Amino acid sequence: MNMNAGTKSGTAAVPAETEVSERVEALLERMSLEEKIGQLTQASGAVWTAGESAEDIIRKGGAGSVLWLNDTKRFNELQKIAVEESPSGIPVLFALDVIHGYRTIFPVPLAMAASWDPAAAEQAQAVAAREARAAGIHWTFGPMLDIARDARWGRIVEGAGEDPCLGAAMAAAQVRGFQGDDLSDPERVLACAKHFAGYGASEGGRDYDPVHLSEAQLRNVYFPPFQAALKAGVATFMSAYMDLNNVPASGNCWLLRDVLREEWGFAGFLVSDAFGVGNLVVEGFARDGRDAALRALKAGVNVDMASATYSENLAGLVESDLISVGEIDEMVRPILATKVQMGLFERPYVDETLLEEVVARPEHRQAARLAAQRSMVLLRNEGGLLPLSKEQKNIAVIGPLADSMVATEGSWMVFGHKPGAVTVLQGIRARLPEANVAYAPGPKIYRDFPHPFGEFDTAAKEPIQTPEAAEAAFQTAVATARGADVVIMVLGEEADMAGEFASRGSLDLPGRQDELLQAVTALGKPVVLVLLNGRPLSINWAAENVPAILEAWEPGTEGGHAVADILFGDVNPGGKLPVCFPRSGSHAPLYYARTLTHLPESSPRYLSRYWDSPTTPLYPFGFGLSYTTFAIANLKVSASQIKVGQTVAVTADVTNTGPVTGDEVVQLYIHQQWGSDSRPMRELKGFARVTLQPGETKPVRFSLGPDELSYWSTNAKGWIQDAAAFDIWIGSDSLATLHADLEVIQ
Ligand code: BGC
Repeated sequence: MNMNAGTKSGTAAVPAETEVSERVEALLERMSLEEKIGQLTQASGAVWTAGESAEDIIRKGGAGSVLWLNDTKRFNELQKIAVEESPSGIPVLFALDVIHGYRTIFPVPLAMAASWDPAAAEQAQAVAAREARAAGIHWTFGPMLDIARDARWGRIVEGAGEDPCLGAAMAAAQVRGFQGDDLSDPERVLACAKHFAGYGASEGGRDYDPVHLSEAQLRNVYFPPFQAALKAGVATFMSAYMDLNNVPASGNCWLLRDVLREEWGFAGFLVSDAFGVGNLVVEGFARDGRDAALRALKAGVNVDMASATYSENLAGLVESDLISVGEIDEMVRPILATKVQMGLFERPYVDETLLEEVVARPEHRQAARLAAQRSMVLLRNEGGLLPLSKEQKNIAVIGPLADSMVATEGSWMVFGHKPGAVTVLQGIRARLPEANVAYAPGPKIYRDFPHPFGEFDTAAKEPIQTPEAAEAAFQTAVATARGADVVIMVLGEEADMAGEFASRGSLDLPGRQDELLQAVTALGKPVVLVLLNGRPLSINWAAENVPAILEAWEPGTEGGHAVADILFGDVNPGGKLPVCFPRSGSHAPLYYARTLTHLPESSPRYLSRYWDSPTTPLYPFGFGLSYTTFAIANLKVSASQIKVGQTVAVTADVTNTGPVTGDEVVQLYIHQQWGSDSRPMRELKGFARVTLQPGETKPVRFSLGPDELSYWSTNAKGWIQDAAAFDIWIGSDSLATLHADLEVIQ
């Protein structure tokens, strides 16, 4: 067995496939059944099994991986026990949710998707991986790849939005960023494609609720990001919590075996979501823990995350001949193989001095600032109010999120993370040190039901504001705005209002924020609204009455600087929405790629699908403004007619017709006019973010071939490409009008 130690920072040579499997088989030969089950057990570092210490569990080889522990020194202590005292000396994988940064926090994934810049997302996750690995973490539970078309669902913040094409590009980029192309790279972590699959379609947008999706929807919409992650080499998958078409994802043989392994050839390992195996009982699927362990293992769940259902039941199931040792070995194999490929046996420990050196690298903060700048979306700019002049002398910054580090960093800041973001207030003060920048938060905002994971939140909990104190804060905010020449309102949602267990029925600005916005706007001053939020918000009043609106999302450590860069014109915003913004929470789910109805929008009789409000989105998918203007012209398709299986080139020219350098995201949409199945009225099939100097023109080129023109058909029960007519549009959002025809014949 090759046990050569790799250098501290160097990459150990990737072992050949045969060498990996020889080492795995040698390990399996000497491991006891208990140790094998240990590899299939992920222990919680936060709450260890009652009665047993972490040391004891690891000493007997009872945990192949540990999650919810974030302590470099402790990693080494536990690893030493695993390596030196456990029977087969197999190192432990330490896993944690590093979703959008470890110490240097990047914009939340929904925001990164708004950059329409996969390279920026890759760079962000590469920095996150480097920092997390320096802290001793080997495995992150990301990227989250759930398509989300219901803005009420809190976890929309963790993914790339509503579209499979954009979602797939972001998925692959994040996997490359986390993992690189070599599992033994000591600056990378294992990625995990989660939550497989369909979690984003929970009924009513209520977190964890059941999902009913047709096979066509799964394959055409919900699976593509997972397939892209797999193609990019993702090492692990996580099964979703919820019930999918009456079979919970973690006990779903069709999903985890037939599709993922047999059809797609996934050869890595799959972990359940937290307590997901044990919860097969709670969900009314398994009779008891023993049945849950049996069904999850048979379905293809390699690792039981935190429920201890495998450790309690698998040995008994083997004894009763319900599971064979061969089946256990099959589940253990990819876990051991991954540990070998990572070089974990040669380099099990982390250098405890590394993290501080790594997080101090200036390029990490630069990357975070660039990512935040690229993710922000200009939603409105009447009369060119933005950018503001840097000569401003008297500014008021108003709102409950204006100086909130927690809201600026966003969701998934748990496990001992200390907030350290530059807030919008700080960013503005730093940009204009000479100006008088007054600040008033206004009334605080709260969830009606507290977050159940509050116990992990280390930020000090303040007492709830009384209505009288809120009123006083409201009046102070209005008075502060009255004294300024320009007002910047920073409104939106607190970090715990989006994310897991953070669904909501309304998409309005919570609390008294809209009221405050109206009172301040009534003063007649120029008002800029900066939104900090992790989901679309129905800002209907602002959309008509506030001249300038910047969607800044939850922008991370450098968020405040990035907002100031954009407000004062050092950076021209170029992000685009990765989701529709509905006019009301009751309009969700709302997305652009719907199929046509018998009374489509183009019909003369069409008014709205609701009689009490327009059903069009407040802002469409793909939308975003700039400080300059663009023209997209010369749409050409290389052939007006092709045969099934052939490919055409679609080209156009994009010109910066305005006064400053800027970025346009050119988007290609198609519509198949008829076919075996009805197809969405528009589908994104390509995009390119292009930087242009004033007056500059650049060509963009996309191709449309079988990959873009095929789909999984309900009627044909399989993948097909129809001979049919297609519309093609190129433009700057999902309402693009520049059109061409394409005919596909047999
Ligand atoms: C979440 C997962 C996460 C896991 C581990 C679960 O509650 O659904 O996304 O990776 O916890 O923290």
